[in-house]
Amino acid sequence: MSILDKKRYTITSALPYANGPLHIGHLAGAYIPGDIFVRYLRLNQKDVVYVCGSDEHGAAITIRAKKEGITPQQIIDKYNKQIKESFEEFGISFDIYHRTSEPIHHQLSQDFFLNLYNKGEFVEKFSEQYYDEEYHQFLADRYITGTCPNCKSEGAYGDQCEKCGTSLSPTDLINPISTLSGKTPVLKETKHWYLPLDKYQPWLEKWLIEGKKNILKSNVFGQCQSWLKSGLQPRSMTRDLDWGVDVPLEEAQGKKLYVWLDAPIGYISATKQWAIDHGKNWEDYWKTHENPADDATLIHFIGKDNIVFHCIIFPAILHAHGDYILPENIPANEFLNLEGDKLSTSRNHAVWLHEYLQEFPGKQDELRYVLTSILPETSDAEFTWKDFQARINNELVAIFGNFVNRVMVLSHKYFDGKVLNGSPLTAVDQSVLDELKSYPATIKSSLEQFRFREALAEFMNVARLGNKYLADEEPWKVIKTDEERVKTILNVASQIVANLAILAQPFLPKTATKLFEMLNFPQGNWSDAGNEGLIENGHQLGEVQLLFDKITDEQVEFQLNKLAEAKLKNLADNAKVAPAKENISFDDFVKMDIRVGTILAAEKVAKTKKLLKLTIDTGIDNRTVVSGIAEFFSPEEIVGRQVSILVNLEPREIKGITSQGMILMAEDADGRLDFVRPDTAIKVGSTVR
Ligand code: 2FM
Ligand code: ZN
Repeated sequence: MSILDKKRYTITSALPYANGPLHIGHLAGAYIPGDIFVRYLRLNQKDVVYVCGSDEHGAAITIRAKKEGITPQQIIDKYNKQIKESFEEFGISFDIYHRTSEPIHHQLSQDFFLNLYNKGEFVEKFSEQYYDEEYHQFLADRYITGTCPNCKSEGAYGDQCEKCGTSLSPTDLINPISTLSGKTPVLKETKHWYLPLDKYQPWLEKWLIEGKKNILKSNVFGQCQSWLKSGLQPRSMTRDLDWGVDVPLEEAQGKKLYVWLDAPIGYISATKQWAIDHGKNWEDYWKTHENPADDATLIHFIGKDNIVFHCIIFPAILHAHGDYILPENIPANEFLNLEGDKLSTSRNHAVWLHEYLQEFPGKQDELRYVLTSILPETSDAEFTWKDFQARINNELVAIFGNFVNRVMVLSHKYFDGKVLNGSPLTAVDQSVLDELKSYPATIKSSLEQFRFREALAEFMNVARLGNKYLADEEPWKVIKTDEERVKTILNVASQIVANLAILAQPFLPKTATKLFEMLNFPQGNWSDAGNEGLIENGHQLGEVQLLFDKITDEQVEFQLNKLAEAKLKNLADNAKVAPAKENISFDDFVKMDIRVGTILAAEKVAKTKKLLKLTIDTGIDNRTVVSGIAEFFSPEEIVGRQVSILVNLEPREIKGITSQGMILMAEDADGRLDFVRPDTAIKVGSTVR
């Protein structure tokens, strides 16, 4: 049975957190694939609702608000607007783009919680959690940082160390610190409601592992298998937070629903709102029916970091509730990298959609094309600006655009833009038309298996077919001798263009619309594709428009420079600062005798990498100091330099040399060193204080 045989479709793309702008990784993960699939369903006249919206709860929002110094409400309003606009610009054709801050969503999430609560599904547990006594607040995982117990690096979060990737619990951290007050948090008892995932494990194994082995993509199936293999644990569905959906229980004052409980319910509340707006029945798209054949087919498009929530936790919630359909498929994508490095919001290593729209106005389909060509469907993929340029210039411009342009220009030049029947079809014409007829089925098969890269490549083969046909038949030469033949060639070529317009619709919606305008032809359905007689004898074509133009080297340069600048800025901003040491008294400080000295001589200490032996004129005497600066300075370059030297440090034996004092150095987080010294030359022996 084909996925197209279903009665009704509920298609979702992950609700992005409204805590920052979108970048190309978002588009490539959950939105371009979802949109292509939905457009394809609609072209097949399917009953489909495509829902999305902003995920406006959770620590992701409050942390961003703190960072920008505005309220969580201001954050979600700002980014919801920006994100929504970006989606519209790129033609992501949601039927509704909703928000989880809407009352209808809060209500539905609370109903869900109460349904499970009343059935006794939750396990109530007391546990000790970190609490900030100054802020009178329990701390979400992301509000606690400390030393990673695994790699010992500083700044690991309560849920994960980003340095070594280990997933953590807040109590695993060494020296935990609250990011709110900067103080050490205390452990305090709190009560939460847990979803007993362990109890659902046998059901999940049956539904997911047995039932979906041949349905899920292998990257998705593999992740599910490994989660189940390691044994599911109860997961808390409530949090001690001040931002989110209230837990609808008297005894849970001040507690909120876990964001991963309410967010996927956002798909349902979005559908509810859409149904209200359009006179539909939302339950048709979400509830189970007496006859399972009446159930809608639910498909979630997501990125790989969301797999566990959509394959395990949300289905377990829907199952526990009992009235809802379960997802048919969850075609998650892997990650997209950028110029050899992970996309990163915090490091500003990204191609932001709102910036792209300003820098490449009107080129939305071009980005859709490039991203679809490289979708990380089975493994991580890589976006580079050179590749972006090459795909646009060598494929969209040189093949697709060039073919369409030649057909249009020649038709106008020779026949005033009329498509005419000429001499009978030759064997070449017939074989080209036969090949044309075969493509819709090939593309359909790829689309229905969520292989969008492959589908797009086949689509481009149709343009290649047309381009080659023109190059072989050379109507610009034949016109001198056989006008009737040229009518036929351009007729065949026009049929290919019309087919391209139909087939382009899921992938390149703006281009398809333009093509239909140029052809002066109504927008066609998928079932029209493959038809060799779409355009009738005598049809008048519209005006020629340029479909695509080239990306210049300067544009690529500009983008690469921008990334390089972001990298530099990030390095400067993120140079980590060591925590402050304990206070010392003034008396302690003045005990140190620091002088300005001059390096008289320098040489490497044998058999060491880091050490230099320096002879320093301190104004008091000439003395020897061993200093660990050889990795940063050569002996030659530092002779004659003024430095600051602690002269009353007890002499120490280093590699058999007596070191009499210490040179003061500044050291950054990466261990780079530089001298602390007077700005202008000053008399040796001057004191530093
Ligand atoms: O990872 C994220 O960006 C989440 N906001 C996705 C939520 S998807 C759905 F469950 F709402
Ligand atoms: Zn670590």
